[in-house]
Amino acid sequence: MQDQVESLRNEALAIVSAATDQSALEAARVRFLGKNGAVTALSEGMRHVPKEDRPAMGKLLNDLRSTVTTALEEAQSRILEQADTAALSELDLTLPGTARARGSLHPLTQLLDRAVQSFRRMGFAIADGPDIETEWHCFDALNTPADHPARNDQDTFYLPDGRLLRSHTSSVQIRVMENTPPPVRIIAPGSAYRRDEVDATHLAQFTQMEGLYVAEHVTLGDLKGTLEFFFRELFGSGTEIQFRPHFFPFTEPSYEIDIRAEALGGEWMELAGCGMVDPAVFEAVCKRRGDRVYDPGRVSGFAFGFGLERLAMMVSRIPDIRMLVENDLRFLKQF
Ligand code: PHE
Repeated sequence: MQDQVESLRNEALAIVSAATDQSALEAARVRFLGKNGAVTALSEGMRHVPKEDRPAMGKLLNDLRSTVTTALEEAQSRILEQADTAALSELDLTLPGTARARGSLHPLTQLLDRAVQSFRRMGFAIADGPDIETEWHCFDALNTPADHPARNDQDTFYLPDGRLLRSHTSSVQIRVMENTPPPVRIIAPGSAYRRDEVDATHLAQFTQMEGLYVAEHVTLGDLKGTLEFFFRELFGSGTEIQFRPHFFPFTEPSYEIDIRAEALGGEWMELAGCGMVDPAVFEAVCKRRGDRVYDPGRVSGFAFGFGLERLAMMVSRIPDIRMLVENDLRFLKQF
């Protein structure tokens, strides 16, 4: 029987090492180790082996089984490796790859993202409100009654029910104060609408970003510091900023902000409006809320607002505002 084991071992090793593919290997496994395989058959012969020889024979058979198993495993990895090498030999790694078309963000979105990040670092949260507004949120609460001349500057589109397309996102500031007690520190990016003739510098729908900070002891110094930080982050530390006295119904005092920066072509540009929240605005909010948490004797605040299209035009040197809404890929692909 010892001889049988020996010759079976030689036969198995020869067949396994000659196998060149998976199915030959599987056939060899079945032939030697399978339920009706040769090694199994030999094990059954143990019954006729004299009792005293059984341990030695058992060991021989076990050795045979593990030798064949190991040989099968080695052959398996050899065959896989050969298959890999064969597959890769077909592959020319120097061929150019398949380029994936890559989209990019709209220049306005890029600018908005930067602006939002900057204000978020200063602790401003993003606030949202409806584009279709009530006259009260858009005008009356902002100290702009129906007969106020400032309404002409912000003439907008009215719905038959008297609601309107908001002419600025200042309405969001009112909504925030209506629903949240101070302190509040928010920015409100979003669309605003005006009845402007569309031309190279005007759109009837544009994007605005307004901000509001109300708490105890908020000062003009806070307003200046916040906006200077913001514009320097956006346009570089060398940016010059000038606060020019102006009028807005909802702030007092009010300013327009002029900026001069290399990134904007080195000219003074009028970029934003801002000011300290007018006490009349706080009073309107108090009246609507039915409490005094926005009592102008207790809290103060600043507000600001600017249009993003004009900013994007200057930052990206875009000559015509309409390019920002035409969705011409030849234009957009440049960003
Ligand atoms: N709401 C003003 C506008 O649309 C901008 C502004 C906001 C001015 C807040 C002052 C304070 O023109």
